[in-house]
Amino acid sequence: LADDGYRLWLKYDQVRDAGQRKAYQKQANFIAVPSGSPVLQAAGRELQNGLQGLLGQSVPMVGEGKGSKGGIVLSVAANPELGQEGYRVSTQGGNVVVMGATDKGVLYGAFALLRHLQTGQSISAVNLNSKPRIEYRFLNHWDNPNGTVERGYAGSSIWKWQELPEVIDPRYQDYARANASIGINGVVFNNVNASARFLTAEYLQKVAALANVMRPYGIRVYMSVLWAAPKVIGGLQTSDPLDPQVRRWWTAKTDEIYKVIPDFGGFLVKANSEGEPGPQDYGRNHADGANMLAEALGQHDGIVIWRAFVYKANSNGDRFKEAFQEFQPLDGKFAKKVLVQVKNGPIDFQAREPFHPLFGAMPKTPLVLEVQLTQEYLGFATHLVYLAPLIKECLEADTYAKGPGSTVAKVVDGTIDNHAISGIAGVANIGSDRNWTGHPVSQANWYSYGRLAWDHTLTSQALAEEWTKMTLTQEPKAVSTITDLLTKSRDIYVRYTTPLGLHHIMGQSIHYGPEPWLEKSARPDWTSIYYHKADAVGLGFNRTATGSNALGLYAPQVQKQWGDPATCPPNYLLWFHHVPWTQTLSTGQTLWNELTTRYYTGADSVLWMQQQWAQVQPALDAELHADVASRLRIQYREALWWRDACVLYFQQYAKQPLPPTLTPPS
Ligand code: GCU
Repeated sequence: LADDGYRLWLKYDQVRDAGQRKAYQKQANFIAVPSGSPVLQAAGRELQNGLQGLLGQSVPMVGEGKGSKGGIVLSVAANPELGQEGYRVSTQGGNVVVMGATDKGVLYGAFALLRHLQTGQSISAVNLNSKPRIEYRFLNHWDNPNGTVERGYAGSSIWKWQELPEVIDPRYQDYARANASIGINGVVFNNVNASARFLTAEYLQKVAALANVMRPYGIRVYMSVLWAAPKVIGGLQTSDPLDPQVRRWWTAKTDEIYKVIPDFGGFLVKANSEGEPGPQDYGRNHADGANMLAEALGQHDGIVIWRAFVYKANSNGDRFKEAFQEFQPLDGKFAKKVLVQVKNGPIDFQAREPFHPLFGAMPKTPLVLEVQLTQEYLGFATHLVYLAPLIKECLEADTYAKGPGSTVAKVVDGTIDNHAISGIAGVANIGSDRNWTGHPVSQANWYSYGRLAWDHTLTSQALAEEWTKMTLTQEPKAVSTITDLLTKSRDIYVRYTTPLGLHHIMGQSIHYGPEPWLEKSARPDWTSIYYHKADAVGLGFNRTATGSNALGLYAPQVQKQWGDPATCPPNYLLWFHHVPWTQTLSTGQTLWNELTTRYYTGADSVLWMQQQWAQVQPALDAELHADVASRLRIQYREALWWRDACVLYFQQYAKQPLPPTLTPPS
């Protein structure tokens, strides 16, 4: 049967090695599931399905399994070390015991055990111990009520609002399983550019129906809200957060939500950003807005996630600085239940950005890291770009907020500032396409995001390997070839699109392909020339003290390193410096030669990707292999498009020939 990608990494294909299969079978004579919540039942069911596939025979589910040996025993036991969601999988008294301090811990342990077997590891001395480093691990969908997905490239929305609440597409449950398997415990179904419709009684029923599917998988449901909802659907004259009527409206609405979704998670808000309404419309600030919603949540167990992605139209300053300027002064002003959600970088999900300067600068506020899994600026569902290295680069960046080692990861997981709550969000890349993500390899971005949200110390390489083994093949040579290909893919993409710290030079509005020549748009900060600043002298945005001084938003140690072109990592160079074309860089080449070399070697590397992919063909499903191979052909053609467009465009300013080492474009 051809592999259509629907089963994601939860394939559970029969273990090929007969010896290995036997060893697993010996330890899987039964699955003991204590009676308990639907979460425990889901864990038992998943193990049963998974083992049936892996072993090629059914494994009975029993009640308690006391006294018997050679089985898998699920157990909820008081163990403070495991926390609310941690697990321990070990052998005890002849059984494999999957233990959690809660039902959710057991669920995550069951998936960990399955992953252990799916990746071909030994069961005899299994010993898995893990608990999440970040408490709220979100997936944010940018899905609209009409079925479209903002920046979605894998078909339309998987949420069929017109059919809900009566029709429950079986796909919803598979979605929940996939998320639970990687530890995602919160989802927002609707776009941050929110429709007020979701807050109507009609839509609350639909959201509640989805929440019922998510609940057994440990997933809570949150909602993006339109700030102007009290006006749009509430019949009020205002949405001023300090207006008593507005406050009453939100409190009543929140109570109404909890009546239909008792474990509702809370609100996600995009306000006063890109034309969305917000508290500033009434002269109030972000904290006034967020705190009003926190108050509306009252005693309910919910939170407010307030997004920091803001920048004003026609601002004469540097867009890089705007979120910082609006939010940093509010540190300490947010209510307890509020988290502020910050994109990984200061502009907007570019292929490479320096970490957002708010990380480390708001010690009194829990900051949620927002990363984008949908490849808005990274080639949609056409280019193969594995994103774990991008996410890791941000997590591992040192903010120096409390001295060396104050990484973004430690800011986000709350350890640096001792926050009681912590969160991370990935903008989903999921749509109605049969294989969920359009590009089969984009599944690895959903997968690795979830795994990193659980444990940010995992490496990109280990996660690529894990995903490949579970999803594509176990053949060792192919696994290492694919792992290597994935791990290098993001750097390759950067080289042929935006090397050396170039950014935001892509096609206007669609955000696809090159358009470095764009001079006019609805706003100055939506052009390309605003960002690259090419002129007769050189290239790049001077953000040092002699320029916009966005660099001044970072800790002194960061300023010191990035402020000097000689020590600034070449990957960030043009983010912070306007560099003369003829200047010799730390790489030993002039800017012009280094830039063009990167564009050319980047494009050439896509040929290398094609060759690597061709090599693994015998080890992969034929249809899936052919699909990716075709996409790699588009990727090469478009890498040449990027290379030639950018090199020829910048050459008008540099007025230099290509270095002799490069072949001129044909
Ligand atoms: C980007 C994206 C928008 C999105 C926005 C956001 O600007 O292009 O479609 O709404 O980010 O994150 O709010």
